[in-house]
Amino acid sequence: MPGFHFKNKRWYSDGVTLSKIAEKAGTPCYVYSLPAFEARFKEIDQAYKSVPHLVAYSLKANGNLSVIHALAKLGSGADVVSGGELFKALKAGISAEKIIFAGVGKTDDEIAYGLQEGIRYFNVESIPEIEAIDAVARKMRKVAPIAIRFNPDVDPKTHHYITTGKKETKFGVYLGDAEKVMRVVRQCRSVNWTGVHAHIGSQMTQTASVGKAAKVIEKLALRLRHEGFAIHTVNLGGGYGIDYQGEKPPEPSQYAALVLPVIKRLSATLVLEPGRYISGNSGVLLTRVTYVKQSGTKTFYIVDAGMGELIRPSLYEAYHRIAPVEGPQKPAQKVDVVGPICESGDFFAKDRGLPSMKRGDLIVIFSAGAYGSVMGSTYNARPLPPEVIVRGNKFSVARSRQTWQDLVRREKILT
Ligand code: LLP
Repeated sequence: MPGFHFKNKRWYSDGVTLSKIAEKAGTPCYVYSLPAFEARFKEIDQAYKSVPHLVAYSLKANGNLSVIHALAKLGSGADVVSGGELFKALKAGISAEKIIFAGVGKTDDEIAYGLQEGIRYFNVESIPEIEAIDAVARKMRKVAPIAIRFNPDVDPKTHHYITTGKKETKFGVYLGDAEKVMRVVRQCRSVNWTGVHAHIGSQMTQTASVGKAAKVIEKLALRLRHEGFAIHTVNLGGGYGIDYQGEKPPEPSQYAALVLPVIKRLSATLVLEPGRYISGNSGVLLTRVTYVKQSGTKTFYIVDAGMGELIRPSLYEAYHRIAPVEGPQKPAQKVDVVGPICESGDFFAKDRGLPSMKRGDLIVIFSAGAYGSVMGSTYNARPLPPEVIVRGNKFSVARSRQTWQDLVRREKILT
């Protein structure tokens, strides 16, 4: 499997040592193995090859243009949730007819942009949104293809911040409102309802919830067809979990075993929107120890990355594996790995067993390819880090480090 491995006492990305990358690009920096992204994409694509399907990579997980471009070449579509993501998907070479525009709060301008570009369809999340899309499409003398996202009220059994399929979350249309939706769509002449969608949550580590959601959607699709709506697309979202900490997430083929029979019975086209599964373990964050600080009984490794680079530990108390880039890997002591930002929540690990390290040593933070760089911020006026792409024995900087000048470029001093 391409990606990251330990050989001769050092960590590699494909054929390149991480220390060489850090030397060239500086730290902190993100490192992405393109072959790893491609391999994970192919796993999902293969698992569903027995039905007509589109894997629409969820750009929100990792929006690096080189990554999107590599996936586009494999036939990937895109799941986008803003005008900005639509712009990036098109720029990276994903054709409009493979782009799905989702999100609970699309503005009229974003809807118009999607219609102008001729995207595949909008994933719609509420009745007022159906009416807004209808109005914008009518003004543009177009008919907008839509799928409606329903909330199947299925628990994905994951962190509550990334649970979306329960009825108390803001996502999707309440199943009990199906009748109302039909009435509204019948009155809206500029929308064409062709699909149903459900995405119940992210980082799922079991298949049963997906099976349950697929069944709810099947029943609904049959009912809608019975009512005269030509539903030919079933979109089951993303959410496939990855191994952060020794979890044993299902393989795509295990989800497929539950989903394929439903799609075959419906003779529908399947759309999937995986983000994390493709990107999570295809990227790492490299950082350097700035200080080793002893404070009473505690030891802190203060590193040059912080919550501005990777916010997941601060926001979700998420676990990311951490290791020295070179040398012994065996834990020698318990330490906190923390960033330089002025917040107690700025940490990567607490009481983590790690080898003894010193100022200047390099650290790799794993599973940072999804929801890492994309959630970055410049808080404390810290420029965003570069993104490095690796393929085989070659690597190059695909996105350069922001500069201090970049931080003030759009600002002027008013008196
Ligand atoms: N489709 C929809 C409608 C979604 O809301 C999401 C993720 C996806 C697809 C992609 O899900 P994935 O395959 O990546 O699980 N920042 C959080 C994750 C937020 C997920 C939001 N929605 C984290 O760092 O864990």
